[in-house]
Amino acid sequence: MKDRRPEQVLEQVRLTLENWRRQGIAGFDCRAEVVEMVKRWPQSTVADNATVVTEGTGRQSLEQIRADLGDCHRCRLHKGRRNLVFGEGSPNARLVFVGEGPGYEEDRSGRPFVGPAGRLLDKIIAAMKLDRSQVYICNIVKCRPPANRAPAPDEIEVCLPFLKRQLVSIAPEVICTLGSVAARTLLETKSPVSALRGHFHQWMGIKLMPTFHPAYLLRNPERKRQVWEDVKKIMAFLGIPL
Ligand code: URA
Repeated sequence: MKDRRPEQVLEQVRLTLENWRRQGIAGFDCRAEVVEMVKRWPQSTVADNATVVTEGTGRQSLEQIRADLGDCHRCRLHKGRRNLVFGEGSPNARLVFVGEGPGYEEDRSGRPFVGPAGRLLDKIIAAMKLDRSQVYICNIVKCRPPANRAPAPDEIEVCLPFLKRQLVSIAPEVICTLGSVAARTLLETKSPVSALRGHFHQWMGIKLMPTFHPAYLLRNPERKRQVWEDVKKIMAFLGIPL
């Protein structure tokens, strides 16, 4: 099990406090008898957005996060979905790709990036001398927006805590965001992906490289050269020779 970075521990603490605040907990009773009682609580209590951080508790597994998500009805997107697309790949991936949201084929299969854009992503991954089983692939939202529209802010807001927990669980060395929705959401910016791509940013202490979405590349193949530049930077950082 990889050690968690201080930023990741802090993010878990923040999520936990936020979750407690939403439950109406406004403070802590630190009397000795209360501390003793808390010590007898189960090792970890999982809530939607947080794991209570207790000494000796390891990182949450992807299976736990998937189980918390359940048969999700937290936003309107559940109404039109056939399958929830959680994400797939190695739980120890050094590289995670984050897209926007499932499309038609992903919704039917329950797997991310298996349609035309996914086939191009497969080629990008192969050009990096990797394969899908070595990386992790997921999306900002886990259910297909109707007619492939962009996910709405409130849909992103309820889904994002689960993606964040997946990223904290995997603790990759690099996150590669595909397209503007993923980059803008994780970097909390309104800048266009064309301005963000080409250099590393940080997400909770993890290097984050924004690049163009493969679906955009299918429509604008002249942009492939820039994606290759971004990909080469990721390979260099991961120590993968060209
Ligand atoms: N586009 C995305 O952003 N994600 C997928 O999983 C498929 C297409």
